[in-house]
Amino acid sequence: MQSEITFLLNGEICTVSNIDPTTTLLNWLRNEKLLTGSKEGCGEGDCGACTVAVGSLDQGRVNYKAVNACIQFVAMLEGKSVWTIEGLKDASGHLHPVQDAFVQTHGTQCGFCTPGFVMSLFAAHLNEEHYNKQEADTLFAGNLCRCTGYGTIVTAAENMQGVGLDQTDQTRIQNDTTLLEKIKSAKTVCLESDGRMFYSPANADDLADLYAANPEATIVAGATDVGLWVTKQHRELPCVIHLGRVEDLKYIKEEDDKLVFGAGVTHTDAMPVLAKYFPDLGEMMRRLGAVQVRNSGTLVGNIANGSPIGDTPPALIVLGATITLRHGDKRRSIALEDFFIAYGKQDRAKGEFVESVEVPLDQAGAQARFYKISKRFDQDISAVCGCFNIAIEDGQVKEARIAFGGMAATPLRAKAVEAALLGNPWTEATIDAAVDAFEQDYAPISDMRATATYRMLVSKNLLRRYFLETSHSPEQTRMVGAGAFSL
Ligand SMILES: Cc1cc2nc3c(=O)[nH]c(=O)nc-3n(C[C@H](O)[C@H](O)[C@H](O)COP(=O)(O)OP(=O)(O)OC[C@H]3O[C@@H](n4cnc5c(N)ncnc54)[C@H](O)[C@@H]3O)c2cc1C
Ligand code: FES
Ligand code: FES
Repeated sequence: MQSEITFLLNGEICTVSNIDPTTTLLNWLRNEKLLTGSKEGCGEGDCGACTVAVGSLDQGRVNYKAVNACIQFVAMLEGKSVWTIEGLKDASGHLHPVQDAFVQTHGTQCGFCTPGFVMSLFAAHLNEEHYNKQEADTLFAGNLCRCTGYGTIVTAAENMQGVGLDQTDQTRIQNDTTLLEKIKSAKTVCLESDGRMFYSPANADDLADLYAANPEATIVAGATDVGLWVTKQHRELPCVIHLGRVEDLKYIKEEDDKLVFGAGVTHTDAMPVLAKYFPDLGEMMRRLGAVQVRNSGTLVGNIANGSPIGDTPPALIVLGATITLRHGDKRRSIALEDFFIAYGKQDRAKGEFVESVEVPLDQAGAQARFYKISKRFDQDISAVCGCFNIAIEDGQVKEARIAFGGMAATPLRAKAVEAALLGNPWTEATIDAAVDAFEQDYAPISDMRATATYRMLVSKNLLRRYFLETSHSPEQTRMVGAGAFSL
């Protein structure tokens, strides 16, 4: 085991030991390194003022991601390269081309949020990704400008289209690649501070052994939920096991009849693959958090957290997904819908973790649609998430799978509605007769996101919408081409 973590900070090797396991990257940068360019706006992943670029080696080249430093723990950075706003200018003090683009367009007003915007565009620039106006909206969905300077900020991103990597950036990437190869380690990281433990294994077998031996530990994948337990709830986590370094859990298997996602796969990596087979799911996932959250958060973390308002569980349930759980070297697979037992209670034994999620591709002719209803279009948690996968044969409902988030204490199928549809003609009269069955399936609560009455009405209307969308052309029923994965 190794008792320190080594990563790159603005191109230099940095070794840290003796650190509290849940010290956030933002606090460490500002308080220990006095790098105060990254700002704290919200401390919960919403505003993007703390955005930094984190590079990882991926098949010999470095892939950069914009990440919220306020909800990343420093201990999660073993083997990564972190760039902050302070590291952007070149050796002679010239601004980086991305900074220059902001200056040219007057893309900054208060300046507090500016480092975060710049770092989002910087990470994209290093990956040689280019953005038109619409794509820039998605790129910046996780960066809030409170003084509404978005127009000029988006223009800065548009102006970077077609701008290649200059010599400074080429050297930066080359240097990162060389140093990341040099510091690469296959050892488990083990940090201890005041009796609190942090483990970061590098392979799945070590993870399984560690968790079986420390069943009370908290698993951390991307920390987009767990980070907030620390920053907002001030929870102390006596023992953390991080799975973000486990390379053999980062697989995506695209087979003839199924897709399989390992527990380390982020939303950013899962989204285009799911979108290829289920475009509407890609469209919905594009609204899961924002780029920074999707870059860190995992698909499996969205399931394992057991939240009743996670976006992907109801979607995966209607697609008939299964999950594989692992304890030591024992594995079992269950239907995803059976994983959620009650609020805060899942079918998962102590020391057992979710290893993967499997999505069948043979959907027997069913049409899948996924609707996220939230107060804001981007970067907001669902009030209601309605997912439908219904097969019609000879004008009659042959199969129906419907599941909702936000309507019960867990993601839950609408079995009474399904029964009311099965075998009946796919007509408005059938829908009219079926909608009341939602009241047998769900007794939603009122909370800050929506009232119970609103939730019930929305769920009924989503079934009507699904009927209209699957009986008419998409142009008549929804704006097409609004997002990255148009129908
Ligand atoms: C600003 C912001 C916006 C967000 N927006 C959305 C949204 O729109 N929709 C949405 O659904 N969610 C949203 N989230 C929540 C969060 O991003 C997701 O739930 C994410 O998928 C969690 O994944 P993670 O890897 O970060 O999990 P972590 O925070 O690392 O872990 C979450 C929980 O799952 C457990 N866990 C993780 N992996 C495993 C595993 N393999 N086995 C067993 N247990 C495990 C952890 O112990 C913890 O209890 C948002 C979060 C933030 C901060
Ligand atoms: S401080 Fe707001 S996202 Fe980190
Ligand atoms: S420039 Fe900072 S809030 Fe708008």
